[in-house]
Amino acid sequence: MSNGRNIFTCGGSLVAPGWVLSAAHCFGEGSSDNPADWTVATHIAKATMVGLPPGAETPVHDHLAWGLVGLYRGTQDEEIYARRNGALELVERRSLEAGDFYALLPPTDDIHRVRTTSAETSVSIHLLTNDTGCIWRHAFDPDSGEERPFRSGYVNVACEEDE
Ligand SMILES: [Fe+2]
Repeated sequence: MSNGRNIFTCGGSLVAPGWVLSAAHCFGEGSSDNPADWTVATHIAKATMVGLPPGAETPVHDHLAWGLVGLYRGTQDEEIYARRNGALELVERRSLEAGDFYALLPPTDDIHRVRTTSAETSVSIHLLTNDTGCIWRHAFDPDSGEERPFRSGYVNVACEEDE
């Protein structure tokens, strides 16, 4: 669950349709107690570990799924983009160290590029609500905003449609 800050805030349990039970401490110290301010991500379906060699970078891409990404080893720079009238706009650039994590919350916080800045391969752990290594999603030209089909293939088993 997150409360509008687009970061993981607390875990919860779906106890009935439309009802999530969470701990009382999740709602103190600046966290809203208005349910409309909260986002609940369910069905964490796939855990993936991704290694990115020194200096390597991903294309600008989306995920089409909610998820959490944590950096386990190394350092990375992340560029976050937003769609504006058919173009892409760089809205944030941040440096990540081991132990940092962020949420992917489409449609607004779903497009980024990651580059390893450490001398060692960076390793990140992804918990996503889809099979992000196998699904077709989008890569973008950051200058023109043009999108093309993209499948990362970051998997260690064959994708279902390839079997
Ligand atoms: Fe990504």
